[in-house]
Amino acid sequence: MRLIFIGPPGAGKGTQCLRLTELFGVPHLSTGDMLREAVQDQTKIGRLAQDHMTRGKLVPDPVIIDLIFERLDRDDCDPGYLLDGFPRTVSQAESLDDYVRGVGKPLDCVIELQVDEDKLVTRVLGRGREDDKEEVIRQRLVAYREQTQSVAEYYQQQGILERIDGNATPEEVFDRIKAALDQ
Ligand code: AP5
Ligand code: MG
Repeated sequence: MRLIFIGPPGAGKGTQCLRLTELFGVPHLSTGDMLREAVQDQTKIGRLAQDHMTRGKLVPDPVIIDLIFERLDRDDCDPGYLLDGFPRTVSQAESLDDYVRGVGKPLDCVIELQVDEDKLVTRVLGRGREDDKEEVIRQRLVAYREQTQSVAEYYQQQGILERIDGNATPEEVFDRIKAALDQ
């Protein structure tokens, strides 16, 4: 199972991937988590990413490309993977297309979680990660609208996009995702 999760900050990408990684037995790859680890360890990638993340801006594509394709090449991704927060630009999506074509393992489905904006801010403020300050969340929402929304359209044109209403409890959203994948 090779799945992508797209959605604004607080949409529940991480929450749903944690459940699905158990269900499918494939790794959950969150570029946000990987970047936070790199920042923590002060690796080269971490140092390049840090300032963008604190400001709620996207990290430049080449940095993300270095991070994710090395990870996708590892053996545990052979049976599949759940991508959480990647791709986030059309250029990242094109790179991923080249990659999956190269290895001959196409994507199964792209899930876009849709949640009302007022709910997103409340959810994220309730969590308290370093980039969960109101002005940074607003900037992350702007980045989503301006750079990532078009990635959903990109996959819609490929006919593999499923839009899921994420305005419900985590359990209900999980059931909706499973129902969409069963089809
Ligand atoms: P990233 O870590 O991906 O953050 P994000 O996209 O802003 O999303 P979040 O992790 O905040 O939200 P989520 O959808 O995972 O929701 P969650 O399940 O946690 O990226 C961080 C930064 O890294 C970016 O700003 C950028 O700088 C950089 N970056 C990462 N990937 C990149 C890329 N590909 N290219 C460039 N830059 C990149 O839920 C949120 C909260 O809500 C939790 O407290 C949860 O318990 C709660 N919750 C979840 N579901 C529900 C529900 N159904 N009902 C009520 N509460 C819920
Ligand atoms: Mg997340």
